[in-house]
Amino acid sequence: MPKQLFPRSPILAGDNVEAKREEIREYFHATLDRYEQLFETLRDGEAYYKKPISLRHPLIFYLGHTSTFFTNKLLLAGLITERIDPRLESMFAVGVDEMSWDDLNTTHYDWPLIEEVRLYRTKIRDIVDRLIREIPLTLPIGWDSPWWTIVMGIEHERIHLETSSVLIRQHALEYVIPHPAWEPYRKTGQAPENQLIDISEGTVHLGKNKSDPVFGWDNEYGSHVAEVAAFQAGKYLVSNQEFLGFVQANGYGAENYWEEEGRAWRRHVRAEHPVFWVRQGSQWRLRLMTKEISMPWDWPVEVNYHEAKAFCNWKAAESGLSYRLPTEDEWYRLYDVAALSEVPRAEPAPANIHLDHCASSHPVNEFPQGEFYDIVGNVWQWTETPIYPFEGFDVHPHYDDFSAPTFDGRHNLMKGGSWISCGNESLKSARYAFRRHFFQHAGFRYVVANAAPSIQQGSQYETDKLLSEYAEFHYGDTYFGVPNFPKTLAELAVAAMGDKPQHKALDLGCASGRATFELARHFDEVTGIDFSARFIGQGVQLADQGRLRYTLTDEGELVSYKERTLSGLGLDSVKHKVAFFQGDACNLKPLFAGYDLILAANLIDRLYDPSKLLTTIQTRLNPGGVLLIASPYTWLEEHTKREAWVGGFKRDGESFGTLDGLKEMLGKYFRLIQGPREVPFIIRETRRKFQHTISEVTIWERVA
Ligand SMILES: [Fe+2]
Repeated sequence: MPKQLFPRSPILAGDNVEAKREEIREYFHATLDRYEQLFETLRDGEAYYKKPISLRHPLIFYLGHTSTFFTNKLLLAGLITERIDPRLESMFAVGVDEMSWDDLNTTHYDWPLIEEVRLYRTKIRDIVDRLIREIPLTLPIGWDSPWWTIVMGIEHERIHLETSSVLIRQHALEYVIPHPAWEPYRKTGQAPENQLIDISEGTVHLGKNKSDPVFGWDNEYGSHVAEVAAFQAGKYLVSNQEFLGFVQANGYGAENYWEEEGRAWRRHVRAEHPVFWVRQGSQWRLRLMTKEISMPWDWPVEVNYHEAKAFCNWKAAESGLSYRLPTEDEWYRLYDVAALSEVPRAEPAPANIHLDHCASSHPVNEFPQGEFYDIVGNVWQWTETPIYPFEGFDVHPHYDDFSAPTFDGRHNLMKGGSWISCGNESLKSARYAFRRHFFQHAGFRYVVANAAPSIQQGSQYETDKLLSEYAEFHYGDTYFGVPNFPKTLAELAVAAMGDKPQHKALDLGCASGRATFELARHFDEVTGIDFSARFIGQGVQLADQGRLRYTLTDEGELVSYKERTLSGLGLDSVKHKVAFFQGDACNLKPLFAGYDLILAANLIDRLYDPSKLLTTIQTRLNPGGVLLIASPYTWLEEHTKREAWVGGFKRDGESFGTLDGLKEMLGKYFRLIQGPREVPFIIRETRRKFQHTISEVTIWERVA
């Protein structure tokens, strides 16, 4: 089948600038041509405006969307200074997020005419063509280059080439027509018997670095190294034939095979078989992109994660073996063991990928790769792994919501690519993740493994507003020149200790735990206690994983993504000295005692009965031990009933401040050795709104 290969993602380095310019220009036009050709499979005008599935826009949106993406990104890159068509661009920019795209804006659209959209596409095509021909080019093209953004636009169009082909496949048959450029494969036969193949343990290296000369999306950069335990993997992708066993065993009706989320999905859509299977009397047929055919039993089944997982659970129940989906790490181990390499640039891939073969799946036993078939290509393969950022992850400034919003534990990675996965999608380093109920040209390979899938913890961004604000308060930037508050308090406390023993410290009301870590620079052992398990979760996560990620509100719904690491704060070497506990400062367990220092920062005016703490705190301190209290004395009845306030009211007709109250409550056992002094802190609410608070610090020594 001699035919011209669909061009590969360009190498963004080299010596010949003009040749590279031309290669990128060809890549650009070939991509747009192929994308426009996809829409030729739509039968008529109505096919553009009817939604294939209720959660997604009609295809007219996708015809315009990829051009608007260029406009938006070229504006960000400073390559153009004005919108090309503000009215169309406001329509076509909505719902752009491939990864969480079912959060569809339901606004009513008065979609433009197809011809108008085609003219718009031509306009954008001409502008980008001119930019490619004219703007200065230096090689290599790095992540910061405006050229990177042009290639981003092309790769984005290739993603939509695939996702729009899925939408067309989901369209009613009456809206599509066969097309010579989109002919499916014809060969089919008996499915082979699947078998398990042993894979020895091994190390996998994932991630790439920014000097890699091929375009990548932000989530591919950084690094992740893992030891993969030995496992077994299916020789073939699960075929329609193999999956039929599950359907016939009433797998869809058996609740126990389905994970909770999958059960809810199945009930909601009343699924009884794979979505592209069509029942006709006692026969099964398969819906392809532009036609329906007799069921090709030896082609891979296409399902969402939930169905794949339920199949594995059924297999496990039948066999007593630990069937499950592979993790992302295990997929890379298969790739390594099969000794695969990237899609060749000048000849057809030895895999059903990159449109090098036909516009459909092939039998599962046609593309041998090592001892296996289809590690790469044919259909995407669901994994157990929710997408997470590699160490060193960084968002691209021109597409800051490409992947960060998907680090939420709800988007699972698919690997390997399908017959229509082109450009970046076809690379070994590609990382695409979708909601688990989503359909792509995706199926699965099962593994049998005793090891539970290792899921990366702590990869999610904290998005709760209060927790994020505290993460920034404790570990983030400084604002208006006000030094980090918990760090300052820890330093004040340590300075006040002089040469007293520094074995054990207690950070009471530790919140996100910064002072706990700071004290561990000096003490042998530091306990952080907070009433809120969610707050100490941040400290625990830093101690365990060395990293905290959170979003900060910039304005309205716009956020920025932050990451802080213990090593970046110089605290990595002390993490073994800290321990966090959830606890009530007014009712602490007896074991929390024997401290040389207790720090109570911004705590007393949040307690329901501060006297319970203040009148017994000496029992937790060693004789001569130091107590630091910091508080803005913001007494509020929502936290502390009025009669329990330490001060801040008139008593016997005179003002009675909190410091007066502290002296009364602590006086029997403590001597005030420093303060009061004022220590300010800033909590960032949005990019332009901050709380500036003054905390009063007093330092006490236990004298009795
Ligand atoms: Fe998009």
